[in-house]
Amino acid sequence: MTNPSKTDAEFDSLKKAVRNAKQAIKRGEVSENILKRLEQLELRLDTQKKKMSAYIQISSKLKNYYDKLILEEIKKNEIPEKLIFELNGPAIDQHMSEQFNDILNSEGLCIIKSKQFSTVVEDAKNEIFQFLNESEQYLKPREYVETDNFIVDGENSIAGGHTGKAAREKPVINIRNGNDDGMVDLFNADRIFPAVAKLKQMLETGNVSKLINAAFPTMEFGNMNVYCNSDVTETRGFHYDARKPVLKIFVYLTDVHDFDAGPYCFALGSHTQTQEIDQSYIATDFIDKRPGDTFYVQPQKLIGCLASAGDIIVSCQHGAHRGYPQTNGNHRLMAVQILRPT
Ligand SMILES: [Fe+2]
Repeated sequence: MTNPSKTDAEFDSLKKAVRNAKQAIKRGEVSENILKRLEQLELRLDTQKKKMSAYIQISSKLKNYYDKLILEEIKKNEIPEKLIFELNGPAIDQHMSEQFNDILNSEGLCIIKSKQFSTVVEDAKNEIFQFLNESEQYLKPREYVETDNFIVDGENSIAGGHTGKAAREKPVINIRNGNDDGMVDLFNADRIFPAVAKLKQMLETGNVSKLINAAFPTMEFGNMNVYCNSDVTETRGFHYDARKPVLKIFVYLTDVHDFDAGPYCFALGSHTQTQEIDQSYIATDFIDKRPGDTFYVQPQKLIGCLASAGDIIVSCQHGAHRGYPQTNGNHRLMAVQILRPT
């Protein structure tokens, strides 16, 4: 573990040397003296640079190693029963609503099982697989293609990140590179697939929305995407999507019964770790990491959401999460509804 007070002391000492040099200039000291001070400062900065560079290399190795270890740790943990809610009747009782509120706010994730979604999920899966088969010619080359009905952003050239792609009138099909390489992200998929539009409408107007609204009253539904993962064997490590509350509803459209299929993973309670979240956004310069990527999650708090097609995961995206890397030959389809603060 690094010693922050020692690092602080070293940087404070460097700052003092700069202050002294400035004062010497103000006093009108001879330029030879000033030059000597600056040369000494340069040497000290070089030493610090070397030290930082060593820390960066050590940290990068440790992070990669730790990421591998926690992928094994996740497999050891069961999904706690209290996270699972059965939703089958036409109405939700007060007790369930209160429990859902409590669990979503304290743990950051709930799983809803409901037979009401079986048909629409099966229809959505079929529509999407058919589309993926028929559109292979557009998706394979990883180029920018615009058709009458959609845009394929195979080169990741649409500016503005997630918001930029979601704001386009035509649905954007983004093929991820870098982290999650090969994952197909269908923005506003409800504009292509009738069954996805129906699923979105069911979530927005039904009991799922009522449960969420009781727990997070200030959130509103945004765009719905579909993630298509086939053989996505490298995925971004644990990270936070935002520093402020953002929720996502994930609906598995295919069974995710084992880790090979690439379940959604979450660190329970991590959305309340404000210091850890802030640090993950501040510490970005000294290592190959994106803002929000986190170095540390508590292994005993990690779960992999193994569940069936039609199961619904409500997740705090300001908590630490990742997709489990798939093994080759596996496919996972998942509808993703984002909810942002009003
Ligand atoms: Fe994320």
